Amino acid sequence: MTWSLGSFLVTRCVCMQTPFDRLLPIAQAHGWDLEALVRETGCGGQCGMCRPYLAAMLRTGTTRFTEPVPDLQPRP
Ligand code: FES
Repeated sequence: MTWSLGSFLVTRCVCMQTPFDRLLPIAQAHGWDLEALVRETGCGGQCGMCRPYLAAMLRTGTTRFTEPVPDLQPRP
């Protein structure tokens, strides 16, 4: 018997309906850090669930996440 618990894939900011592969080149072209990305696009500024993925995208250049990413950002 094979069990499948489903697949995990995060590729976008759901709240702003914006894919990471569209955000990354814009962020790179402007030299944005996470806070600038949030301020300029609204992504990460709604529910905030995509913020760890946006941070990882900026660090690594990855735009498809098949595993959860820990939230390394400091909280106020
Ligand atoms: S998924 Fe990006 S702010 Fe909600």
